[in-house]
Amino acid sequence: MKRVLVTGGAGFIPSNFIRHLLAKTPYDVVSLDALTYAGNVENLKDVMSHERLSFVHGDIRDAELVRDVVAQCDVIVNAAAESHVEKSIEHGASEFVTTNVEGTQILLDAIRAAPVERFILISSSEVYGTAERAPMDEEHPLNPRSPYAATKAGADRLAYSYFVTYGLPIVIVRPFNNYGPRQHPEKVIPRFVTQGLRDEPLTIHGDGHASRDWLYVDDDAEAIEAVIAAPLDAVVGEVLNVATGIDISVAAIADSVLDLLGKPESLKAFVTERPGQVDRHIGSTDKLERLTGWRARTSFEDGLARTISWYRDNEAWWRGILESETPRVSSS
Ligand SMILES: NC(=O)c1ccc[n+]([C@@H]2O[C@H](COP(=O)([O-])OP(=O)(O)OC[C@H]3O[C@@H](n4cnc5c(N)ncnc54)[C@H](O)[C@@H]3O)[C@@H](O)[C@H]2O)c1
Repeated sequence: MKRVLVTGGAGFIPSNFIRHLLAKTPYDVVSLDALTYAGNVENLKDVMSHERLSFVHGDIRDAELVRDVVAQCDVIVNAAAESHVEKSIEHGASEFVTTNVEGTQILLDAIRAAPVERFILISSSEVYGTAERAPMDEEHPLNPRSPYAATKAGADRLAYSYFVTYGLPIVIVRPFNNYGPRQHPEKVIPRFVTQGLRDEPLTIHGDGHASRDWLYVDDDAEAIEAVIAAPLDAVVGEVLNVATGIDISVAAIADSVLDLLGKPESLKAFVTERPGQVDRHIGSTDKLERLTGWRARTSFEDGLARTISWYRDNEAWWRGILESETPRVSSS
């Protein structure tokens, strides 16, 4: 039976993905996570004692540890990252370069030493920068506009180079903006929801026209699983968007959140535009559907309603995070 290593397993997307793998597949799952401010073991609490999950507390930049863990796995899903755009702009890019680029290189070198069936790099739609055409397909130029995005582009192309140079079984996945349960309240949708629940202003950068392609996290989990299950020949060396093909502006999201929470529009507060802002993101869904049959199943209305209900029911989770640190604001 396949053993899947998911790095960054205590984070938002990876914890939802692990829960999905344990529920929907027979795979054994190993998670390697350094438990940075973004990693929260609470995110895996309900599955931590699952017989098919092992959790290793460690850093993807630790080459010796990574070699040991990788040698016991068949599939690698590298999702560990410094993931917050605004943090990369305001607090320096050093951790972003070392975790996102060097960490990926250490994992790639580990699979050179101990071959695996496939290595899936979770890249990001942020590598594209602002859409030059819509929807953006995988051939869209890479114009990363923030240090975060640049490090993701570095890891993305580094992984590709290991496919070309060493013939390693690499697949590069570029999800668009995920949202859903267990997302750190520094990110825009949970920030709006938690601000609204506390009757605090929903702070919107610029005029809020910046739009994104919003992907419900469970749909992303199904997409990554589809990439694991696809015949290797169909996906190896490929770049695959994970998107919905629909974009919604940040201001419209604030309106929907207020509407669903039954709060007044006057809670919207416009603040200065963020440097390195991406104006528009909308992804082409064709290639992933053609190669794996995957399509996003959750409408934005349903996904947002489910997300809000999770944050309502799990107030201790997000209050604990907000009380433990000064939150960073973001529109991505
Ligand atoms: N959230 C999105 O909308 C989105 C969109 C596209 C791509 N992505 C990518 O998906 C992945 C997951 O994103 P997320 O939003 O769930 O991130 P997250 O910040 O919620 O989680 C990241 C996890 O990685 C861990 N981590 C950080 N540095 C590490 C290191 N050096 N070694 C081991 N673990 C480390 C953290 O502890 C945390 O658990 C990232 O690669 C991100 O770039 C995210």
